[in-house]
Amino acid sequence: MVMKVAPSILSADFGNLLAEIKKAEKSGADLLHLDVMDGHFVPNLTFGPVVLQSLSGKTRLPLDVHLMVNNPEKFIVFFAPLKPLYITFHLEAVKNADDLIRQIKEQGIKAGLSIKPATAVSSLFEYLEKIDLVLMMTVNPGFAGQAFMPEVLPKIKELRKEIESRKLNLDIEVDGGIKDNTANLVKEAGANILVAGSAVFGSSDMKAAIARLKE
Ligand code: DX5
Ligand code: ZN
Repeated sequence: MVMKVAPSILSADFGNLLAEIKKAEKSGADLLHLDVMDGHFVPNLTFGPVVLQSLSGKTRLPLDVHLMVNNPEKFIVFFAPLKPLYITFHLEAVKNADDLIRQIKEQGIKAGLSIKPATAVSSLFEYLEKIDLVLMMTVNPGFAGQAFMPEVLPKIKELRKEIESRKLNLDIEVDGGIKDNTANLVKEAGANILVAGSAVFGSSDMKAAIARLKE
């Protein structure tokens, strides 16, 4: 499987954000992962569409928006003008995901659905035909630099099996604690997009770090 790496700017130096993004771009990143946090769905705050708008048109990396917010349906209108490749929201943040999936796809944007480590993987199954990506959290969302939770591995395997049995073309992205050793584990389990914050932006050789994750 072709592996893609999506560096998360959560671990970048925000004083030099554009330079950091350009560096990721030149170092072989495939996507730019944008962690939007609201202080309610997760115990932390990051940035919203105003900050991201200022980067729009300045990178050729496709944008991968990860909404860790309550009421995500209120925010699609603000993120759609950025023309991201994906908008991903959390299943735990909505009553029924169908409306929001439709709303995202109507804008010509690929829809992603994410679950936290404690949520059953089977809760995603009714949506698999409608979405483009599943984002499996391998830490409890909220902070960069946390330890990978290996108990998610069997869930990734189960999801990949389900996707294959239905002959679907769906990306499995993983997010949290992805480094050289854990990258191998999630690849084996069936993930094909790796989000990495500290492993990429914390590295002194970003190009080598991204190449190792893809190996
Ligand atoms: C966690 C975020 C992640 C985070 C990953 O809530 O969704 O994208 O930035 O950071 P690392 O790779 O350092 O665990
Ligand atoms: Zn994320």
